[in-house]
Amino acid sequence: MPAMRVLVAGSGGREHALVWKIAQSPRVERVLAAPGSDGMADVAECVSDVAAGDLDGLVALSRRERIDLVVIGPEDPLAAGAADRLRDAGVAVFGPSAAVARLEASKAHARDFMARHGVPIPSYDAFTDVDAARARVREMGACVVKADGLAAGKGVVVCPEPEGALAALDEIMGARRFGAAGDRVVIEELLVGEEASYYALTDGERVVTLAPAQDHKRALDGDEGENTGGMGAYAPAPVVNEAVEKRVLEEIVHPTLRGLREEGTPYVGVLYVGLTIDASGQPKVIEYNVRFGDPETQALVLQSRLDWVPLLDGAARGALEPPLPIEDEGAAVCVVLAAPGYPRDYPKGLAITGLEEVADMQDVVVFHAGTRREGEGFVTSGGRVLGVTARGADVREARDLAYTAADRIAFDGVQLRRDIAARALAR
Ligand code: AMP
Ligand code: GLY
Repeated sequence: MPAMRVLVAGSGGREHALVWKIAQSPRVERVLAAPGSDGMADVAECVSDVAAGDLDGLVALSRRERIDLVVIGPEDPLAAGAADRLRDAGVAVFGPSAAVARLEASKAHARDFMARHGVPIPSYDAFTDVDAARARVREMGACVVKADGLAAGKGVVVCPEPEGALAALDEIMGARRFGAAGDRVVIEELLVGEEASYYALTDGERVVTLAPAQDHKRALDGDEGENTGGMGAYAPAPVVNEAVEKRVLEEIVHPTLRGLREEGTPYVGVLYVGLTIDASGQPKVIEYNVRFGDPETQALVLQSRLDWVPLLDGAARGALEPPLPIEDEGAAVCVVLAAPGYPRDYPKGLAITGLEEVADMQDVVVFHAGTRREGEGFVTSGGRVLGVTARGADVREARDLAYTAADRIAFDGVQLRRDIAARALAR
């Protein structure tokens, strides 16, 4: 295979992890990122004037630089048709069409699809009428209220009591906190069980799976506090044992991909299934995402010893080939360092120390999510700032190393969870 030029769309911690992984492939000659970030500039050529959502810009850049493969990081460009546009222009793309991306962009559409194809899910109903929605909430008591559209991960309210659900309806449908994304809501049964994130790379038919991972969505230790974009992740997650994984593949992944083929919209890219696994080992789908998870990807790129480029490229070209199995895959843990106040208001421009020291550590990589270069160093520029990621022979070793590294990095008011991967270690 001739040396490849790969373009990654996006600028966050997930995209830093992707360019880092892709840059290690012996098949790759150049890695570009649009727009990329200062924090990834040592592994990718960042084209800062092309935003991830600038579809014309992505097409023009791909042509100009004769890009062999585009990997799209975030969901919004996918929902806007970035993969379709690039494919129409003759560029190989790892990422699904806009039609498929509706599985993430509309929760009602996704639930209806799952129901049609017999995928295990909670009971649910969609509403455009607020009074009908209120009546359902009073009937159900405990439930989950979801804005139908994309709401940057904030449109879901888990409500053990009906009062919370009624308040959520007022906010989403009444005050239109998420605009049109909340003109329709899904109200569903509250599932109990441990959560996991499962990733299937696919060309529509064949599948290569990654190690099951677990995110930590709440801001504080013990899963307290507000929902965030994710405060840390690790892989493999033992809750998805072999028996559970088999069920995930047979009951969820393959029926989903088959359903999409039958409906004429085959999946190309990574299907990310958010799961709950109950005490009996029954997995159910919380949601589909049509992209890699953040910060799970930061852990997965370190955990996996595979070269991902043949997988991403094979999926994009409709010829995904299963890699040779790897023994002793090991584990990885990512600890997110967030700005003080996140996920609410937080300051920016805080000077970060310790990055050089950590750069010399073996088996540790720091992925930048919200930083900016200033002079010789970096300052914070976002809520989630860094994903301090370490690999080890097992989760414990990776966890210890990730925290050793995290404790060497500082900025004013740094916020982190101390219990990333604790669930795996408590087993
Ligand atoms: P999402 O924005 O769809 O990822 O949902 C955010 C979080 O809400 C998930 O990670 C779950 O913790 C929770 N959640 C969503 N749907 C349900 C459900 N039906 N039952 C219990 N928890 C849920
Ligand atoms: N890790 C959660 C997400 O990427 O949506």
